[in-house]
Amino acid sequence: MKLGHFFSLSWFGIKTILFKQKKPILGTIILTDHCNLSCKHCAVNNINNEMYSYESIVKEMKNFYKEGIRILFFCGGETLLWEDNGKDIKDLIIKAREIGFYIVNVVTNGTITLDIKEADIIFLSLDGLKDTHNLIRGDTYDTIMKNLNEANNSNICVYLAVNKLNYKEIEKVGKLSKNHPNINSISFNLHTPYKGTEYLALTKGEKREVIGKIKKMIKDNIPVFNLNSTLDNYLENNWKRPCNQCIVSEDNKRYVCGRCVEEEGLCEECGYLFAVEFSLLFNGNIKVIIDVLKTYLKYI
Ligand SMILES: C[S@@+](CC[C@H](N)C(=O)[O-])C[C@H]1O[C@@H](n2cnc3c(N)ncnc32)[C@H](O)[C@@H]1O
Ligand code: SF4
Ligand code: SF4
Repeated sequence: MKLGHFFSLSWFGIKTILFKQKKPILGTIILTDHCNLSCKHCAVNNINNEMYSYESIVKEMKNFYKEGIRILFFCGGETLLWEDNGKDIKDLIIKAREIGFYIVNVVTNGTITLDIKEADIIFLSLDGLKDTHNLIRGDTYDTIMKNLNEANNSNICVYLAVNKLNYKEIEKVGKLSKNHPNINSISFNLHTPYKGTEYLALTKGEKREVIGKIKKMIKDNIPVFNLNSTLDNYLENNWKRPCNQCIVSEDNKRYVCGRCVEEEGLCEECGYLFAVEFSLLFNGNIKVIIDVLKTYLKYI
């Protein structure tokens, strides 16, 4: 990260903490809800089957920037299926940089390509070793591995949503992530039980087991892109939500924190560790501030 960007983000953090500001710094734009998969744990695919236009996405990027947002995520549906009149994800990332965003990330299921050097981080969803991943995501593991091996870049962070079906395997995926030359890190979320996916939620005891394993991986130098200092707060469920510093935009509609904010009672069951981390950080938790400097700067 450029030094100027680092100082600017730090200044944002200081102002947010001192003056209890609610302004966002991290914005996500949903490019499409269309998806080529139908994963067991997901509730946001193929609802309207829409590809949003290049113009509307660029307009929202400019709005975000004017409002002070500097970290941009592109997400979906399947993000990399997005296209509009010959324009694709690379055009959007280049445009985002032109506008001035400091960090531009993409979240993908990895079935199309992972050759996107333009992104700072590609969050690649991988939900277990072959059989478990395929059980959750359909027969896609081999394609993803092929794309991973062929990627000409090493800006890839494995993104694993831990649930009832895969929680026994997370350490093995951690090791795979450490050993693969194109993988830079691994980041975990725990299952958030959207309507119809409640059966995949972990019990309190299983969550404790998972958090224990993530802590051990951090100790064993697996490149975990989560904050150790926030894991107990997740377990004890004692963090403030929604997180005001994150915002999601889909088709001209804005959501504070995540689209999930509108599902009654879901935030209480939230498993998105980024929300826990950002919430504690911007509420001025000293341990978390130090951990961010230690951890985030390693992987960005
Ligand atoms: C909705 S997907 C969109 C991007 C892309 N299609 C993908 O799968 O990475 C973004 C991330 O949300 C995760 N996710 C979906 N449903 C979830 C749930 N119920 N709890 C936690 N994470 C979830 C997915 O595993 C994925 O890593
Ligand atoms: S690939 Fe992503 S958007 Fe598509 S169903 Fe799976 S988690 Fe949902
Ligand atoms: S706290 Fe944020 S990320 Fe978690 S469920 Fe609520 S809106 Fe979604």
